[in-house]
Amino acid sequence: MSTKPNAIIFGGLNTCSRALAALLVPVEGESLVNNLRIVDKYSVNPATTYIGAEFPQVLQKPNVEYRQANLTIPATVKTCFDPPEGQEPYTYVFDFTGEIQWDRPEKIQISHTFNIARLIGLEAASRRVKAYVRIQHPFYECKERGNHDEKEEAKPEDVLGIWWHETLRMLACIPGLNLVILRTALVYGPYVDYGNLMNFIVVAAVYGFMKQPMKALWSPGKHAAHSVHVDDVAGALWACAEWMAGIGRTEADAIAGETIIFKNEKSKAKEVEGMVPPDVKCIAPLFNLEDDSQYSMAELGKVVTSFFGTTFEFHNFMMNTVAKFRIEEVVEEINEAHVGQWTTMITTSHPPIPNTNYTAYMNEYNLKRHVVAFNASKLKNVIGYHLRRPKLCAETLQEMIDKLKAENSWPNL
Ligand SMILES: *[C@@H]1O[C@H](CO)[C@@H](O)[C@H](O)[C@H]1NC(C)=O
Repeated sequence: MSTKPNAIIFGGLNTCSRALAALLVPVEGESLVNNLRIVDKYSVNPATTYIGAEFPQVLQKPNVEYRQANLTIPATVKTCFDPPEGQEPYTYVFDFTGEIQWDRPEKIQISHTFNIARLIGLEAASRRVKAYVRIQHPFYECKERGNHDEKEEAKPEDVLGIWWHETLRMLACIPGLNLVILRTALVYGPYVDYGNLMNFIVVAAVYGFMKQPMKALWSPGKHAAHSVHVDDVAGALWACAEWMAGIGRTEADAIAGETIIFKNEKSKAKEVEGMVPPDVKCIAPLFNLEDDSQYSMAELGKVVTSFFGTTFEFHNFMMNTVAKFRIEEVVEEINEAHVGQWTTMITTSHPPIPNTNYTAYMNEYNLKRHVVAFNASKLKNVIGYHLRRPKLCAETLQEMIDKLKAENSWPNL
């Protein structure tokens, strides 16, 4: 009998779940799990969302099953845990679910982020899974100074951040759930098409193409803009699962438990089913993840723009001031300078790739000032995780672009 676990991945085709799937069941080489089930709302054949060139190959593997499902339905969530006949139960669960669009109303955040995770968490607890790893995106405003460890207070950003954070409290308080939370910095890497960092990289490529300096808001850009490669998100999720499966929640809380502080409006607790009252203390093992680059915004800009053969500068004082108070007024002006050039790049590419999902359009959320710093020392010290891609540099960028060019989603000029 093999001792490898069976795993389910819920959600995240639009974020990092494909990278995890490729780690668990590599296209070449040995699987880390016996069987892998992936569940999300999208169709993958034909694909109704961008899934990159590697993932369809992972889906071809005999021990991988994809299931398109509506996870807002409790009965559907339950059946997702039922193994095929003759197969051992699923013991590792990776939860990537949740709405990542910055401008969705609270109602959607509650139903898609909070409720879905609650259904999955409750079912996972009742099935006594050995590890339940939840990804947390950097939907926080981190402190400007400090050591940025897990104890440092980070403020959930907007409606999006508040409900993602509330979801952590809810999961933390599900009795018997072997929960670990992994909180990531800004993610980049091949086949990643969400988040501020990828958007920033596309825009830097455009300024490189135009041979003009890329201009950003928020001079002097000394605030943290820490990054992490998607391969390390996958690697760290797996490391967290193995760690939890070996010790269980009680010991994990004793070693790495953190209080998930209440950050919502108190009145919501009465309105939202399953929300944990504000005065209940919720503790769960929480690990930060970032690479060793630890760039400021200005440093990140320099590294990325120099890769594309240009330089990084900041807008003038006037523009910054307007952005600070009325960012919606500068969005169009900023985009006007480069979006058309991206269209030129993708239509004159060899071959033309007019339908690439990568975009140079910067929305309000992309343009806002974000301080992102999540010191990963605890993950390294407690779990012993080693970064596979310790630095965001020309090499990691080149490798990413090469893969995107090979699948015709990045312009080849
Ligand atoms: C998922 O199920 C809910 C509840 O039945 C329904 O309101 C929603 O429209 C469904 N979503 C999709 C994409 O079918």
